[in-house]
Amino acid sequence: MKTILISGGAGYLGTALTKELLKNYKVVVYDKLYFPWLLKNKNKIKFHSNLKFIKKNISEVDLSDFKNIDVVCDLNGISNDPSSELNSRHTWNINYKCRLKFAKLAKKSNVSRYIFNSTCSIYGFNKKTVTERSKKNPLSTYAKANYKAETEIMKLKDKKFKVNSLRNSTLFGFSNTMRLDLVINIFVYNLLKKKKIFIDGDGKQYRPFIAVNDIINVYKQIILKENMPSFICNLVSFNATIQSLAQNIKKILKAKDNQIEFNKKMVDKRNYKVGSKVFSKHFGKNFKFARFSTEIKLLKKQMKLNNIINNNQTIRMKFYKKILA
Ligand SMILES: NC(=O)c1ccc[n+]([C@@H]2O[C@H](COP(=O)([O-])OP(=O)(O)OC[C@H]3O[C@@H](n4cnc5c(N)ncnc54)[C@H](O)[C@@H]3O)[C@@H](O)[C@H]2O)c1
Repeated sequence: MKTILISGGAGYLGTALTKELLKNYKVVVYDKLYFPWLLKNKNKIKFHSNLKFIKKNISEVDLSDFKNIDVVCDLNGISNDPSSELNSRHTWNINYKCRLKFAKLAKKSNVSRYIFNSTCSIYGFNKKTVTERSKKNPLSTYAKANYKAETEIMKLKDKKFKVNSLRNSTLFGFSNTMRLDLVINIFVYNLLKKKKIFIDGDGKQYRPFIAVNDIINVYKQIILKENMPSFICNLVSFNATIQSLAQNIKKILKAKDNQIEFNKKMVDKRNYKVGSKVFSKHFGKNFKFARFSTEIKLLKKQMKLNNIINNNQTIRMKFYKKILA
């Protein structure tokens, strides 16, 4: 049985990915455990005897952490633009320098594949639909550090050390380590709790999205197919304006007409669309993306069941403000 090390594996995406990979693999979660759901609930998780934790800062990594590891998934670091500006030196150190060091040690320890979780925000603002070869325009410290890390880590690839960089769109969907600072998640949450969806700006801005479940399927394919080459790939399920998203969510959850409120004083400048020239080559033309309506209904149901609340655990900016500012 392969052993997968997930760096940042106790976070939003990491928790969902860990639970799924445990069905077929041994999993080591390397994480500072800022968000402790996974550790606290370890014994409730199926196949938890296959799960181990290394509770460490990424800056403290050493060669012994990679003993018997076959594949590394790197989901670590400060995970959004506003939090990255709270302490830009810290972000540069963790998201670029430490993630690069992590990859170098993994290679030295004979790990055979390194899957780096990157971001579409490295493209910045662009009027055209961006693909992998489009000009990069990283604007925030988050985007700059992730792009630099991706560039340097890709240089490590060779026959024995495959590297895949996945440039994620904005994620949505349920995870036990929930994030409510992601637009679709907060729309569903606010509709549930406040019977309203709040939109910053006029809502005409386009953004790319992908479900957590889709990303998990991508990871599963890469890990399963040993001959999958090294590559960089944008991960996008659909592009939509914020306003159309809100309308769609309202319809799916059968909310009333007057439940969208605009805050036109707030300007959301992030406006871009993403496509991919390489996705279908590696994951097939018929890759089945999750159905939006199914994901939204599930998200509402799970948030209710798990009593998710808006606090400094579910909003990254609130959490990092406490420990970094
Ligand atoms: N969520 C999204 O919409 C999205 C979009 C594009 C890219 N990404 C990227 O995907 C990855 C995962 O995102 P997420 O939403 O799960 O983020 P997250 O904030 O939920 O998870 C990040 C994890 O990293 C850990 N961590 C942070 N700093 C650490 C440190 N110094 N040492 C050890 N552990 C540390 C945290 O404890 C947390 O568990 C991130 O790299 C993020 O930048 C996310």
